[in-house]
Amino acid sequence: MTKTIPAEVVEHLRNAVRVAVLTGAGVSAESGLPTFRQAQTGLWSHYDPTELATPEAFLRNPRLVWDWYAYRRRMAREAHPNPAHYALVTLEQHAANFTLITQNIDGLHRRAGSQSILELHGNLERIRRFDSGTDVETWDDDGQTPPRCPQTGELLRPSVVWFGEALPQQELRMAYSVAEQSDLFLAVGTSALVQPAASLPLIAKRAGAYVIEINPEETSLSVIADCCFRGKAGVVLPILVRQAFGETEEAVG
Ligand code: OAD
Repeated sequence: MTKTIPAEVVEHLRNAVRVAVLTGAGVSAESGLPTFRQAQTGLWSHYDPTELATPEAFLRNPRLVWDWYAYRRRMAREAHPNPAHYALVTLEQHAANFTLITQNIDGLHRRAGSQSILELHGNLERIRRFDSGTDVETWDDDGQTPPRCPQTGELLRPSVVWFGEALPQQELRMAYSVAEQSDLFLAVGTSALVQPAASLPLIAKRAGAYVIEINPEETSLSVIADCCFRGKAGVVLPILVRQAFGETEEAVG
């Protein structure tokens, strides 16, 4: 990253009382997990979301959809948090009030040690019954794909948000409120193309927050951001944290 850190960014990092961060797939890219929309490497350039990420697709071919998420669960388990995840843990420790809003379903923020997390699109490790929508505590993959609930016989599905489905209402309400009350808002590694998550930085900006974007590419957020860093999250975030607080936590495994 060639850009020097503007003094006002360091001031905002040090002095913000309410910090909100929105992350997308770009934060996990340096952990080896593919993003969605990047040409060549993005998941949606190889796979058709209408065949894999809708309730209709699941009903048409539950085995295909279950297996695709089982594959992604295996990839997420094998991945390790990267310096971007750890820098956000450090930021949380220094902020008076901090919320991490993520669109990612890979669980890497929690594994890195972040505490206050709102998962807007669910989590690969959670499984729920297809019809009733209730979570199952434990599930046994007995070779049937997808497994069924032993009590009700319902098909089990990953507890993630598919296209055409509503986001978890409580998380979404909290995310709106956090964005509105934040005085510093960071948008990291998201194309900002998927609503309603993409509206959160705009809500924060309208309510008076200082908005920082970290992304190697320009996005629709770039024009409203107060400061854009065109670099990788795993490079930029540790530098910001080091400059503001004189320390950072690098990846440990
Ligand atoms: P996208 O794939 O749409 O965007 C990823 C963004 O990360 C792009 O803007 C990249 O430029 C940026 N990026 C790539 N590498 C990066 C790095 N090392 N550091 C920082 N940024 C980097 O992914 P999302 O914005 O997360 O939804 O997509 C939003 C939602 O669309 C996902 O949650 C998923 C998808 O369909 C569901 O599955 C419901």
